[in-house]
Amino acid sequence: MPEANLVLNNVSQVLTMAGDGLGIVEHGAVRVRDGRIHEVAKGNLEPRPGETEIDCCGRVVLPGFVDPHTHLVFGGWRQNEFEMRLAGRTYKEIAEAGGGILSTVIHTRLATEDELYNRALERLHEMVSWGTTTVEVKSGYGLDTGTELRMLRVARRLGELGFCRVVPTFLGAHSVPKKWDKSVYIKLVVEEMLPAVAEQGIALFCDVFCENFVFNAAESTAILEAGKQHGLIPTVHADEIESSGGAELAAKVGAASASHLLQPSDAGLAAMAQAGVVAVLLPGTCFFLREAHRSPVAKMREAGIVTAVATDFNPGSCPMLAQPIAAQFGCIHYGMTIEEALRGITVNAARALRLDSRVGTLEPGKAADIVITDVPDYRHIIYRLGHNPVFMTIRDGRVVHRQV
Ligand code: NIG
Ligand code: FE
Repeated sequence: MPEANLVLNNVSQVLTMAGDGLGIVEHGAVRVRDGRIHEVAKGNLEPRPGETEIDCCGRVVLPGFVDPHTHLVFGGWRQNEFEMRLAGRTYKEIAEAGGGILSTVIHTRLATEDELYNRALERLHEMVSWGTTTVEVKSGYGLDTGTELRMLRVARRLGELGFCRVVPTFLGAHSVPKKWDKSVYIKLVVEEMLPAVAEQGIALFCDVFCENFVFNAAESTAILEAGKQHGLIPTVHADEIESSGGAELAAKVGAASASHLLQPSDAGLAAMAQAGVVAVLLPGTCFFLREAHRSPVAKMREAGIVTAVATDFNPGSCPMLAQPIAAQFGCIHYGMTIEEALRGITVNAARALRLDSRVGTLEPGKAADIVITDVPDYRHIIYRLGHNPVFMTIRDGRVVHRQV
């Protein structure tokens, strides 16, 4: 493909994310060969035969964004619950009254595979227009074997389109379906869903919504251990609504990441640091739900935990597709530094998905997943609240979105 050989010249700052910081090359250039980063240099590079030169007009270039936690595939929306929350009801109250996840389950079960696919595709295009080049996509709105597999097939089809990498996660344990006994449902997840998911090779990760009022730490452990038996890497929704031992359990099962973490215990944070579990922070959700607690980023920093940032895009707790805005919330709402937030949506997010050997930095040999921005200084990506800084999104050296 001709676009896979590129030279990006006239860049004000190349953020390579190599090493511990932003790896900034001022007045730099990037050469892409066969869809991979070939070199990052100071000054402009001479285009060679067969290479397309892009003039970046003195703007910032950085790795394509990695969104390590989303619920992209679902039927219906939940604007009614949003209105109820504005009137004072809480997420937990609405969920316990049969709204929340279970209302999306009804609409998802009713949707055909193509309907789910078409709606998710529109949303994926919007994500890519905000610079996302890799996205994790969870199931979890089926809660029956057929619908869970249908959601994962949709994720696979979206990935096959080739304009955004899709990492599928099985989240059968997102909620207990209506009228089901919890232990019977866990048996279905472990004995029927997980084997079917594994047999079809249709997910890489296994996730659980670990909360005392959903799947408690012991139940979550059992499900994640069963997932491991089937070759699925554990990850967990942990300590969001209540402190539920989620951080401890993430460390115990060797999870790649733990998400939310609004109220992790100190012991849980220490265990995560020790086990190398990446904390996936979801500040957009915390803001959107007006949650009382915020992730303790200062403690995480002190403990030496690697922190990533995700949108958590879903119809209930965060209908936001934009990774740059998630990063803005990371700074403004959680107190991350600009450097932490930008590493959080690139290299550290890649690490949360165990893809850091392939994406997340602009280093020779890595996939040429690149965002060319329209801003002259990297700090604008956070500072210009609500601004879409993406001029061009490039995946494997191919232009997949361009600002119009
Ligand atoms: O990550 N917390 C559980 N899952 C989602 C919410 C899903 C929903 O409300 O539909 C989350 O916030
Ligand atoms: Fe989630």
